[in-house]
Amino acid sequence: MVKICCIGAGYVGGPAMAVMALKCPSIEVTVVDVSRRRIDAWNSDRLPVLEPGLDAVVRACRGRNLSFSADVDRHVAGADIVFVSVNTPTKSRGLSAGRAPDLAYWESAARVIAASAGSRSKIIVEKSAVPVRTAEAMERILLAHAGGGNGGAAFQVLSNPEFFSEGSAVRYLLRPDRVVIGGRDTGAVRALREVYAHWVPSDRIVSMGLCSAELSKLAASAFLAQRVSSANAISALCEATGADVSEVTRAVGGDGRVGGGCSHLSSGVGFGGPSLAKDVLHLAYACEANGLPEAAEYWRQVVAVNEYQKGRFVRRVVASMFGTVAGKKVAVLGFAFKAGVADARESPAADVCRGLLADGAHVSVHDPAVSERQIRRETAAVAKEKVRVARDAYEAAEGAHGVCVLTAWEEFRALDYRRIFDGMRRPAFVFDGRGVVDVGKLREIGFVVYAVGKPLDPWLKGMPAAA
Ligand code: UDX
Ligand code: ADP
Repeated sequence: MVKICCIGAGYVGGPAMAVMALKCPSIEVTVVDVSRRRIDAWNSDRLPVLEPGLDAVVRACRGRNLSFSADVDRHVAGADIVFVSVNTPTKSRGLSAGRAPDLAYWESAARVIAASAGSRSKIIVEKSAVPVRTAEAMERILLAHAGGGNGGAAFQVLSNPEFFSEGSAVRYLLRPDRVVIGGRDTGAVRALREVYAHWVPSDRIVSMGLCSAELSKLAASAFLAQRVSSANAISALCEATGADVSEVTRAVGGDGRVGGGCSHLSSGVGFGGPSLAKDVLHLAYACEANGLPEAAEYWRQVVAVNEYQKGRFVRRVVASMFGTVAGKKVAVLGFAFKAGVADARESPAADVCRGLLADGAHVSVHDPAVSERQIRRETAAVAKEKVRVARDAYEAAEGAHGVCVLTAWEEFRALDYRRIFDGMRRPAFVFDGRGVVDVGKLREIGFVVYAVGKPLDPWLKGMPAAA
């Protein structure tokens, strides 16, 4: 029986290995992690990763051919294929802090593999989003250890990046658009292809060079982020000219050459989440480190436009409400970085809240999925006592001067906006950062409405432009 071990039981490793175990009953899959708490959670009824369908997948194979363990060394030593799926955050200290990826977790995983490998030959598979040529560094660490006399174990290093989005991980993993496998050793590539061939059609399993596979992960994220920033840059011009960004992006996305229809062309308050901005910045850093400052600058602009869009939204809110929100209550509907997830990491909503709090507002936040703890953690640094967490949208908006819609939760479309209006101060403002509300209907009720990229409310035209 082929044995697979995955180092890192996080957002990527956990779901990816669970689906692999489901689809490959003849393969024994063990996911290991240094965090005992994480492993305990994977072995419990409350999984540490919330993804639709994941519970059922884990329940179907845990105890059959899927297990979770904190005994990293033992399982790595006994595996034929070792996936590395550890976190690769941005360096927070030292040289290139804030720009370069922090490979400390990845390096510690490489050293564990090297030290515990014994003489059994292995295929090592990079799953984490790593810089190009990390596989070569992995080979160097493994070779250095082999030279140190671990019995001459043979290692083949492959790159097999993961492309799923949060909230649709299981759906994607069951039917991926593509599986990318990069590697030099044809035998190792074939072995990994055979694993995926259990459920992925062969024309969707794409083999390529090692560096190309490594780069494809950051490049894919960067292209998606670039589409959102392009739509957002157009949204600013739409507001200035009276065009409607959703009409413009529909026209743009309708061109087959743009590819993929309108996905990642929705303008809004900006992109967030743990991956997108981080991947673009790491790509920019790779360009810089390879002596390509113009290419680096191009990708940094994608993130700069995203920052501009979040700042522009805050300035619109403040400018509309007569130049200050000091002492005013602002309701914030939605705190997750996107609808359908309970995750507020790098959420644009958190940035908007911090901007409003910095100008002296009180914010009352409601999100159907994000925990109060997360909301408080993201806003604590600014003004702890000025943040309230509301049970529902009506409570959040009661007595507020303005309402900001910052996550496109479906339920926000169906709210009783007449009831919200009745409970608010006058003039009552709605600032829609996600294209959620029916602008015409809300204006009929009496709201002053600002919606990103839409023709400006006649009422706002008289206000000073957002600086
Ligand atoms: C992303 C990539 O889509 C995925 O392929 C990669 O593996 C990990 O990063 P994820 O971060 O889960 O996935 O979310 P995604 O759906 O891409 O959305 C990211 C952010 O962009 C969200 O804040 C979302 O609201 C925003 N977004 C997305 C837009 O503002 N407009 C869009 O049209 C699409
Ligand atoms: P991702 O989103 O890439 O999956 P996460 O932070 O969710 O990232 O998960 C990465 C996991 O990898 C964490 O649970 C962390 O404890 C684990 N990890 C990091 N370094 C090691 C290591 N050397 N050995 C085992 N597990 C590790």
